[in-house]
Formats: sequence, C-alpha cells, structure tokens
Amino acid sequence: MSAWTFLREFLRDPAKVGALAPSGRALAELEVGAAGIEPGHVVVELGAGTGPMTAALLEHHSDNLLICLEPADELAECLEQRFPGLKVHRRFAQDLPEILAEVGATKVDRVVSSLPWAAWSSTLQDAVFEGIESVLAPDGRMVTFTYAHTAVLPNARRFRSKLHEHFDSVHTTRIAWANIPPAFVYVCDTPRARH
Ligand SMILES: C[S@@+](CC[C@H](N)C(=O)[O-])C[C@H]1O[C@@H](n2cnc3c(N)ncnc32)[C@H](O)[C@@H]1O
Repeated sequence: MSAWTFLREFLRDPAKVGALAPSGRALAELEVGAAGIEPGHVVVELGAGTGPMTAALLEHHSDNLLICLEPADELAECLEQRFPGLKVHRRFAQDLPEILAEVGATKVDRVVSSLPWAAWSSTLQDAVFEGIESVLAPDGRMVTFTYAHTAVLPNARRFRSKLHEHFDSVHTTRIAWANIPPAFVYVCDTPRARH
C-alpha cells in the first residue's frame, strides 16, 4: 500500500521524491546507525516518505526528540497512520528554523536526510543547506544517502563537493547492496557555517 502511495507521489513530482520506491531496511539501518545518535540528542528527519528511516529511528532511539518532516500530504498521512502519535511536519527543510522555534528546541544534533539532492538545482541545494546549517549544533552531524550507480554523474559530483564546502569532515559508509538500488551514506560532521 505505502509503496503505491510512494510511486504515485514520484509520478506526480519526480524531482521532489527522487526515487521510485522507498528505502529498504538494510539502508535504513545503515543510515540510522551512521548517524551516531546518543541519549538526549535532538534528531531531525528530512523527507520521511513512507517511513523506512522513521521506523529505524523509533525502534532504536524512541527516547530522543524526533522532528519529522514530510512535505507531501499523502506521504505525511501514510506516516501518521503507520506511526500513531508521531507528529509529522508537512514542511520543507528550508523551514527548519521556524519549525525548531515552534517545537521549542534550540538546536539539532543529528539530521537524518533522505532528500533527493542530486535531482535539484544548485540554488535549491543552497537553500536547503542554509536551513540545516542554521539549526545544526557546532558538533552536529548530517547523514544522507545516495544511490551508488548515480554517484559518478555530474549532479551527484557537484553535490559531493558542496558537502565538502559545508562540512569539515565528510566520509562514506559501505554500500548497502541489499537496497534496491544499492546505496551508501555520506556522514558529514562539523558544519563550517558554525565556526
Ligand atoms: C527519496 S524520498 C525518501 C523517502 C524515505 N525517507 C525513504 O528513504 O524511502 C525523498 C523524500 O523527500 C521529500 N522532500 C522533497 N523535498 C523536500 C524538502 N525540501 N524538505 C523536506 N522533504 C523533502 C519528498 O516528499 C520525499 O518523500
């Protein structure tokens, strides 16, 4: 059911959704593990979709404050049905400063992103980086996945160099081969805008 909702959203707006199918459990475990979430960390999930990352976050880190963003209405509804009690913000990553103020948080320690960065223009990428940097703690971390087969394409390479412009340290995980398609995670530490 949620896979159909996801596909329908992709067909409606491919650049916004950026994938034909939701991430699998192997990728969700890889990305959430790479986030290095500790007790007390405030966690933001960007682009929750139908909730594979959300499920891993709630399974392993149910005591952390999770601020979950999904701008597509149908996907947000799907999330609310799947995770009763979870507040889903139908908002964009660019709105993070206002969202944080609304929930009464002052900073974010971990950003778990599934955003389709490589499908975006440089201007949109910059606007989203700005939203993230304005809320991420100086020792904060962002994790974001990318499909292995697209990593050599020009847009993906441009995105990788932007990651290095915005963070002091960027490294990659192993590939989650069980995901369709296989993907790996960028682990980005110490946002440059904050020091
Ligand atoms: C590749 S899908 C990932 C969905 C899910 N997390 C997964 O791994 O299957 C990207 C998601 O990002 C959402 N999205 C697109 N632009 C966004 C933005 N600017 N801020 C927050 N979410 C956005 C889309 O609606 C979509 O659900």
